[in-house]
Amino acid sequence: MEYRQPSSRSAAPGADALAVQVRRLAAARDAVILAHYYAPAEVQAVADYVGDSFYLAKLAVELPQQAVVLAGVAFMGESVKLLNPAKTVLMPEPAADCPMAHMVRPETIARARERWGSDLAVACYVNSTVAAKAASDVCVTSSNAVKIVRELPQRHVLFIPDRNLGRYVAEQVPEKDIILNDGCCPRHEAVALAEVRALKAGHPAAPVLAHPECTAEVLAEADYIGSTAGIIGYAEQSPAEELIVLTVRGVGYELARRCPTKRFIFPPTPLTCADMDSVTLEKVARCLETGAGEVVLDAASPEAVAAQRALDRMLELAGR
Ligand code: 13P
Ligand code: SF4
Repeated sequence: MEYRQPSSRSAAPGADALAVQVRRLAAARDAVILAHYYAPAEVQAVADYVGDSFYLAKLAVELPQQAVVLAGVAFMGESVKLLNPAKTVLMPEPAADCPMAHMVRPETIARARERWGSDLAVACYVNSTVAAKAASDVCVTSSNAVKIVRELPQRHVLFIPDRNLGRYVAEQVPEKDIILNDGCCPRHEAVALAEVRALKAGHPAAPVLAHPECTAEVLAEADYIGSTAGIIGYAEQSPAEELIVLTVRGVGYELARRCPTKRFIFPPTPLTCADMDSVTLEKVARCLETGAGEVVLDAASPEAVAAQRALDRMLELAGR
């Protein structure tokens, strides 16, 4: 999969001066700026690297810079910090959080462990808290969940926190007994089947590309299901002129950048992530200027050590 390095253009009029300032501040701090595909367009435009959550997690391990600005939500900054305890990780908007990250209860994990013992693995989507990762055997992202779950030695797999990604994985890996947890992304969960069907009827030649956080009934309408990077890669390779995209509209920036002649159609009820939207260019500049928003984790604590182990196992099983 191909990802890009520093962009030379900004997205919104008026963002240019601020973008120049951000680049100057990043150079002064020797910081690298990583942005998720859902970040606002002007933030993606100024970032050194843009990618999906798996790419951002593994990239941070390979980069030489001591300071990382993570333009995304809390679990992304925490994952980078857990994998790189010696690095300074700055979050432009520390309050940007993923609601799904908090949708698993410790009792759910404890009960499953009690019931299936050593024949149970807990697979934790990276959209999760440090505590949930620490209580798990391995982390996964939407780009590697199927591969990793398939490779686990245990027959039973408790998949947390996302029931939609978990159900999708269960369909792809029928040899495993997947136990679902009742969490979901409220934004992807809201994609309406009726809207998707209407878009398909209006654009019969357009393939439907969906993120696996969508509901089962919506995923049943899709021609391709994958992570944000997977969706962008599919669109780039596809001969189709028009494509229907069922994930947060922020991916539209990279889709337009890579496929300038294609038309991307999103559901009429906008699929936005307010947390990602809150990571503005002004906040990127401010954290670079002041050092505010640092992710603080005690790397030696049993919780951080266990969470790091689950992330390391993901990198190992996904093949770095
Ligand atoms: P990706 O892993 O596909 O980047 O998705 C992260 C996410 O939060 C999806 O809503
Ligand atoms: Fe979390 Fe959903 Fe936002 Fe992704 S889109 S960060 S899963 S709330």
